[in-house]
Amino acid sequence: MKIAILPGDGIGPEVTAQSARVLRAVVGNRVDLRMEEAPIGQAGVDAAGVPLPGATLALAQAADAILFGAVGGPTDELPDRSKRPGSGLLKLRKSLSLFANFRPAVLFPELIGASTLRPDVVAGVDMLILRELNGDLYFGEPRGVHLENGRRVGVNTMRYSEDEVARIAHVGFQAARQRRGKLCSVDKANVLETMQLWRDVVTEVSREYPDVALTHLYVDAASMMLIRAPKQFDVIVTGNVFGDILSDAAAMLTGSIGMLPSASLGIGAGVAGAKVPGLYEPVHGSAPDIAGRDIANPLASVLSAAMMLRHSLGLPEEALRIERAVRAVLANGYRTADIHQAGTRLVGTAEMGDAVVKALDFAT
Ligand code: IPM
Ligand code: MG
Repeated sequence: MKIAILPGDGIGPEVTAQSARVLRAVVGNRVDLRMEEAPIGQAGVDAAGVPLPGATLALAQAADAILFGAVGGPTDELPDRSKRPGSGLLKLRKSLSLFANFRPAVLFPELIGASTLRPDVVAGVDMLILRELNGDLYFGEPRGVHLENGRRVGVNTMRYSEDEVARIAHVGFQAARQRRGKLCSVDKANVLETMQLWRDVVTEVSREYPDVALTHLYVDAASMMLIRAPKQFDVIVTGNVFGDILSDAAAMLTGSIGMLPSASLGIGAGVAGAKVPGLYEPVHGSAPDIAGRDIANPLASVLSAAMMLRHSLGLPEEALRIERAVRAVLANGYRTADIHQAGTRLVGTAEMGDAVVKALDFAT
């Protein structure tokens, strides 16, 4: 199986090195994993002048799965957006039609004290944020900054077609079916026409899933509920922009954004047992302030590798083994700086990777 490794920038290479190791260790020699690395983001700009070099895209297109690190760097502020590191990731998601971004936010009981929220509020949090990834303000036209009467005006367009909403809604209902049967659709239908269409289409699709309990929330109320009573959520389905924001907020329920994995999938996403190509990306960014210091938490990347085994490689047992190993390592007190508390053992990025690899042996 071909795995494209796109470490990117900042802490990306450090955390990806650990998850690639864990992947190799968990499959052993039962599966022939061909890993090939290519630059993306600032690394792409440095190597080939653009954030998503042609050779990187070709490698990603040919792969069964892509393990991505993070992007961001000095060219982040360039006026030419196509040269910004983040645009490499956006182009990759769009070019491969990876429209369904699975962002599970699960609190490991061992980390209950690491959240900034009260333990009784976050205990038992286990939700899936399903973010649409190919539409919305991120890609809508027209866009740009132009002059009107000598003044700059900025324009972005919120745009969704009914088929784009329907396809992510189907993925949401199917995901809810495989979990606790609850789907909450988040929109802003009270103000935005695009979001009224979103709500209407999700409601239409719901007729095919009478076994799933559908609710709707406006995004402002949803963000409050995420903090006030997060346990009520099973699957949240939402657009690209709201999903970007809500998933960062949800990350803090679990203690650290350094714990949150994600999978970006295309057609076939969410269908039980389906094996689809996908892009596996931790939710966190490139964290330039801590890059190169061996202190970043690699677990979001490691857990993303577990999602890869489950959704793209057809190896669900191995996925479980990684997840159990992570749990064991946390239970044994290993903590990177972002989740460290008194009485636990502070370890660096590589040491955390070592610990997970060792724990795999006992996590069968
Ligand atoms: C994310 C990130 C990206 C996004 C950035 C890096 C372009 O914030 O994956 O959540 O906005 O989608
Ligand atoms: Mg984000």
